[in-house]
Amino acid sequence: MARATAAAGLVAGREAIAWAERQMPVLRKVGDRLEEGERLRDQRVGVCLHVTAETGALVRALTRGGAEVDLVPSNPLSVHAEVATALAAEPSVTVHLAEGTPASHERALAAVAERAPGIVVDDGADLARVLHATGHAATVAGAMEGTTTGVLRLRSLAERGDLRYPVLAVNDTPIRHLFDNRLGTGQSVLDGLLRTTNILLAGSRVAIFGYGACGRGIALRAHGLGATTTVCEVDPIRALEARMDGHDVVPGLEAAAKADVIITATGAIDVLGPEHFAVLRDGAVLANAGHFDVEIDVRALAASASARRTVRPLVEEFDVGDRSVVLVAGGRVINLAAADGHPAGVMDLLFAGQAVAAAWLAEHADGLGNEVHRVPDAIDADLARLALEAQGVRIDELSDHQRRYITSWAPMADAATAPPGSFDR
Ligand code: NAI
Repeated sequence: MARATAAAGLVAGREAIAWAERQMPVLRKVGDRLEEGERLRDQRVGVCLHVTAETGALVRALTRGGAEVDLVPSNPLSVHAEVATALAAEPSVTVHLAEGTPASHERALAAVAERAPGIVVDDGADLARVLHATGHAATVAGAMEGTTTGVLRLRSLAERGDLRYPVLAVNDTPIRHLFDNRLGTGQSVLDGLLRTTNILLAGSRVAIFGYGACGRGIALRAHGLGATTTVCEVDPIRALEARMDGHDVVPGLEAAAKADVIITATGAIDVLGPEHFAVLRDGAVLANAGHFDVEIDVRALAASASARRTVRPLVEEFDVGDRSVVLVAGGRVINLAAADGHPAGVMDLLFAGQAVAAAWLAEHADGLGNEVHRVPDAIDADLARLALEAQGVRIDELSDHQRRYITSWAPMADAATAPPGSFDR
């Protein structure tokens, strides 16, 4: 019976990874290239990521390039067990699972460190912390970090002179901001809102607090569904950008008094507090897409309410005076708590970037200092080109004549009319 269950898990895991791979054409293409050039032959890669089908697709791309992979979950509570089972059955992969306690998670991270990885794919600098604490950082040629928090931590380690290997900040690339924060968050936040509440957005007023990459994506998609969008900001440049993009821009209290839906995406604390709750319209819906569960002051909302009840899964209603206020997912990050997170099509670009960066590190890490480095622009451009190709989109190229003109120091008129070759250095 147990064997039958394990076999079913293996099949389900392989199917889940295959489904993700079908929606990840850029990663597939990168996997082909890594395999052709055996770009990761003899490399041991330590990977700390959420164990999902998309991560499974990344791990398979790395092994196709010749790598031996040690995988440890970045969050033991979010492991897709069938994916872990399928990956553990791959010949070049070892999965280090924890039993759910923090101590067991630390042991799993330490087990990866002890395997002495040459390349590290990190998430929140968890592997970096353990590699440095256990003296195994010396064997690492280079690493990639995919979160803002991880990049900040590693930068401060580097500033103290204690970082023991070079790190590529894959979190900071333009492609990541476009695909992860803007496209991924934009779509999945609205998905979470609609799944939980099933409200009609067309004709409603949606206020977005924060106009960073996340806020821009949410505002764009809400507008696309027919909502009237209002943006609240504290940064004048972002506020101006929102205004020029066609959104109303007003102070938070004014927006709160008129909005049918308010979504926070700021990274700050208590962005919606008692003063906002006091002016909300009857039935206003509140959701957070930003940082943990601190952007909406849920404790103050509960304190100001005479009653609180669950009206649908993940939807609570608070009686505040003679009005009701609706809170989605308890103020936790809505697309993670109430939707499936980013679609595989978004993870495609991010993980293809990780796979290309791993091969790049295998070839270039020796020349890099022990600092946090930008990912070379050429990698991003290459990924964008592959993504366009996957969609059958072609673009133009500069002619030699045009390239000479824009790189020449000659007076404009001369550069434009000079015969080819005149300004070549
Ligand atoms: P960002 O820093 O580019 O943008 C945040 C914006 O909020 C800034 O323009 C800032 O001026 C503004 N802001 C800060 N405090 C404010 C306040 N009290 N009122 C109004 N505006 C305020 O950050 P980004 O990339 O847009 O991310 C925003 C948050 O979303 C972060 O906490 C980030 O960790 C989180 N995030 C969530 C994702 C998800 O899947 N839900 C994905 C990526 C990031």
